Amino acid sequence: MADFLHSKLVVTGASGHLGRRVVELLAAKGATNLIAATRTPEKLAGLPGVTVRKADFSDPASLDAAFAGADRVLIISTDRIDVPGLRIQQHRAAVEAAKRAGVKRILYTSMPNPDRSFIPFAPDHLETERAIEQSGVEFTILRVSWYAENLLGTLAGPLKTGKWYTAAGNGRIAYIPREDVARAAAAALASSGGADERLDITGAELLTVPEIAKIVSEVTGKPIEVVPVSDEELEKMLAAAGMPPFVIPLVIGTERNIRAGNFDVQSDAVLRITGKAPQSLRDFLIANRAALPA
Ligand SMILES: NC(=O)c1ccc[n+]([C@@H]2O[C@H](COP(=O)([O-])OP(=O)(O)OC[C@H]3O[C@@H](n4cnc5c(N)ncnc54)[C@H](OP(=O)(O)O)[C@@H]3O)[C@@H](O)[C@H]2O)c1
Repeated sequence: MADFLHSKLVVTGASGHLGRRVVELLAAKGATNLIAATRTPEKLAGLPGVTVRKADFSDPASLDAAFAGADRVLIISTDRIDVPGLRIQQHRAAVEAAKRAGVKRILYTSMPNPDRSFIPFAPDHLETERAIEQSGVEFTILRVSWYAENLLGTLAGPLKTGKWYTAAGNGRIAYIPREDVARAAAAALASSGGADERLDITGAELLTVPEIAKIVSEVTGKPIEVVPVSDEELEKMLAAAGMPPFVIPLVIGTERNIRAGNFDVQSDAVLRITGKAPQSLRDFLIANRAALPA
């Protein structure tokens, strides 16, 4: 982090959960040349020591203004998974703008194994990684595992009914609290970096669904029976439960991806670059007990 006080650092998507936290963490460490780039600057008014600039990946001119003079830019992937392919355009626009601005390093929030993933939007990340590679700008790709926060929604049903229907088999995943992702992203952006790198930003432990269910039961005191089902059976159950049709392929893709071993990635990158290990899933669930059904 030696030069970070003097480097001009940009965080895109700075009104989002992750972006805002990255900005807060860097500001708290004393960064004075920090630019929070967002579509909604008004949401960030009052963050001490932070310059807020308007930036919309769908408006390249806004990006030229937002990235002007930047040394490093953290491009946070957008949430526009509702329109297939839109994110690729958005992210390409951000990469091209960073290159035009002459930034020395691009950082990007990708996902695990985007080249062999069953997640419907994995191509967005793969193509963005390629665009960054092809830009010729030095880069740090942060391949972020699924947030532990995602589990809070998944667990609502199993905790109410006592049954966890899953197609994930004995595949493993290392869920990571978003706070640890923010810490890692802030540390990576603060570093002037060396060679181009891809860092797996994962949770502390790889766990199967039955292992997660056991931890959840211990934390909540509620028994959960894990019931293996096929993708097709799960799809029907989710539809019958009223899940919005566009979300179902994401859930099935996640289960299939876990089962296939494509989320079976665990690294010490968070500890290495931040000096602190990510929170264990057990501690995360204890801290977020109130977000789970009583
Ligand atoms: N690993 C996981 O489990 C997981 C889970 C959910 C999401 N994600 C991904 O990680 C990203 C950050 O997570 P989060 O929790 O902070 O999500 P979030 O709170 O939903 O934030 C959405 C983000 O998308 C940005 N965005 C949307 N449209 C944009 C546009 N046209 N131009 C520039 N930015 C745009 C927003 O930026 P502004 O509003 O500031 O402009 C904001 O940073 C998400 O956007 C998504 O790609 C990962």
